[in-house]
Amino acid sequence: MSTRHVALVTGAARGIGLATAQGFAAQGWRVVLLDRDADELARVVSDLPDATALVCDISDPDAVAASFATLDRLDCLVNNAGVAQFGPIEACDFALWRTIMATNLDGTFLCSQAALPFLKDSRGSIVNVASISGLRASTLRVAYGTSKAAVIQLTKQQAAELGEYGIRANCVCPGPVRTKLAMAVHSQEIINAYHDAIPLNRYGSEAEIAAAIIFLASDSASYITGQVLAADGGFDSTGVGLPALRKGAP
Ligand SMILES: NC(=O)c1ccc[n+]([C@@H]2O[C@H](COP(=O)([O-])OP(=O)(O)OC[C@H]3O[C@@H](n4cnc5c(N)ncnc54)[C@H](O)[C@@H]3O)[C@@H](O)[C@H]2O)c1
Repeated sequence: MSTRHVALVTGAARGIGLATAQGFAAQGWRVVLLDRDADELARVVSDLPDATALVCDISDPDAVAASFATLDRLDCLVNNAGVAQFGPIEACDFALWRTIMATNLDGTFLCSQAALPFLKDSRGSIVNVASISGLRASTLRVAYGTSKAAVIQLTKQQAAELGEYGIRANCVCPGPVRTKLAMAVHSQEIINAYHDAIPLNRYGSEAEIAAAIIFLASDSASYITGQVLAADGGFDSTGVGLPALRKGAP
């Protein structure tokens, strides 16, 4: 059996998850790509050396248990799968609220719990993917933003409780990235407004978010746990980040 480090990335069929799986593979890790989109997963997994595909909906406890039962080793779990839906509070009915929570929060909890026996063996780590929407409140994302804030707190709970097993837990909060998830909810007006409000004046790339995740999983981060790293072009750092104020005094 291979003793190479193994990373399991959820939501790995595309976007940030796929870039993360590719980044781990480039560094010699064995990767397990998990996603509910079987067709897309089959397409991308064949391009990665020594990669395994797991078709699974992370909001389904039985499916998660069955998927993790197939593992033989795990050194890092990346809880990346997520769904987004933007709309006013009045329009967020309970079914939509539950749909967002079921993947973003319940799925992260379920996968982390299923990974624990393996992570105890390997003294491995968890990297949760939240969002700047979990750090800064904004309009139209009552369920998404709240689910991501909960993922940030879940990370701290995990760090507090799992440290005694040598397991680290950290969180990456991406700023906007032009993935299918973001483009479904970002109009051109929203894109322009983000460019204005972000100190680096641009969206991030999938690879830039992956780099932050892989750093937190690496031995270089061996004394880092319970931390929240915003890979967001400086968006979280801007308090009164009014574009007009940043353009200088009149
Ligand atoms: N793109 C952004 O601007 C942005 C910003 C902040 C945070 N994020 C977060 O980054 C993560 C990845 O987002 P992305 O932009 O790459 O999205 P994406 O939609 O491109 O990819 C998400 C992947 O997750 C899978 N997925 C969704 N629900 C699932 C479930 N229940 N079970 C299994 N797989 C599931 C999808 O099939 C898809 O392949 C998400 O958690 C998202 O909230 C993204």
